[in-house]
Amino acid sequence: MTTTTDTTIAGLFGLSLPVVQAPMAGVQGASLALAVAQAGGLGSLPAATLTPEALRHDLAALRERTGSPINVNFFCHSPPTPDAEREAAWRHLLAPYYAEFGLDPAALVAGPARTPFSHELADVLAEQPPAVVSFHFGLPASDLLERVRATGAKVLSSATTVEEARWLQAQGVDAIIAQGLEAGGHRGHFLSDDLDAQAGTFALLPQIVRAVHVPVIAAGGIADAAGVAAARALGAAGVQVGTAYLLCPEATTGPVHRQALTADAGTTTALTNLFTGRPARGITNRLMRELGAMRGDVPAFPLAAGAVSPLRGKAEATGSGDFSPLWAGQNTTGCRAVPAAEITRELARGW
Ligand SMILES: Cc1cc2nc3c(=O)[nH]c(=O)nc-3n(C[C@H](O)[C@H](O)[C@H](O)COP(=O)(O)O)c2cc1C
Repeated sequence: MTTTTDTTIAGLFGLSLPVVQAPMAGVQGASLALAVAQAGGLGSLPAATLTPEALRHDLAALRERTGSPINVNFFCHSPPTPDAEREAAWRHLLAPYYAEFGLDPAALVAGPARTPFSHELADVLAEQPPAVVSFHFGLPASDLLERVRATGAKVLSSATTVEEARWLQAQGVDAIIAQGLEAGGHRGHFLSDDLDAQAGTFALLPQIVRAVHVPVIAAGGIADAAGVAAARALGAAGVQVGTAYLLCPEATTGPVHRQALTADAGTTTALTNLFTGRPARGITNRLMRELGAMRGDVPAFPLAAGAVSPLRGKAEATGSGDFSPLWAGQNTTGCRAVPAAEITRELARGW
């Protein structure tokens, strides 16, 4: 740490360390957020799959255990219009796998709920305001955003291009997360679907730093103290790290996911839209290899998940990750099965 902390996110959010634990829906809850907060970083609670009641419960539990700042993260996609033809074609494509597992392809299964930020969720924030609220896929409608601002929370969102960073700054965000292509999980893009317009972290970060005057948080491929030092050298005000926390005991990463992260053969990742309908980076598995990781004919986000989830359930029951979204970034070298506090402190040594 240096004496210039007030220009970093440590100063902005009142943290000891300029490290944000990336919100990671599906693989963590309040325990990971708490461990990072207690270590002096910004712990994040992913709320994309939480009902208002579950969010209320988790925020109360966190508040009971720590007075440190917490980030609550929401998706803000437009809810999709179901398309029966697209859904039927998707099920037809998956039919051989359904047959392999003896599943009925006509059975309708709702995928894991991923709901955009709403007034019901804003009600919970008004009751128990977190220090920071971050969004993925842009920002919510202005009336909703106003409600978040009214709680006093600092507002963040991810940019995958310079254009998105400028747009977020114009909406008055407090800091911008520069999400490079290396990053695990969903791409946060919202102005354009053109993945070729997106760059790696250390190409994107300095361009965004030059283009905006708000603090920029580097995300994607940062896995150790040297990566943090590199981000700082390129003008970052802090870092957001996801993949490196996936093996921590406080994360809820499932057994097949943990196994894939530690496989002897090493990990190859790719962007895929097969599991949700939006591009996200995960470890390449059978479904991605056999269908092609990116397809133009999958149902819109998040509807694609519905037809895949029974296959995932059957395969995982036999210890196989062939049909699971094994979200991970390109740099898995920081993944260690040690307490999240240790990972947080190790990352911060690079600042
Ligand atoms: C398993 C996993 C789940 C993720 N889920 C979310 C999420 O719910 N919300 C979000 O804003 N970002 C999510 N991300 C993206 C992270 O915010 C961040 O951009 C990324 O983890 C940084 O790259 P790294 O994984 O290489 O550290 C997720 C990332 C991973 C690895």
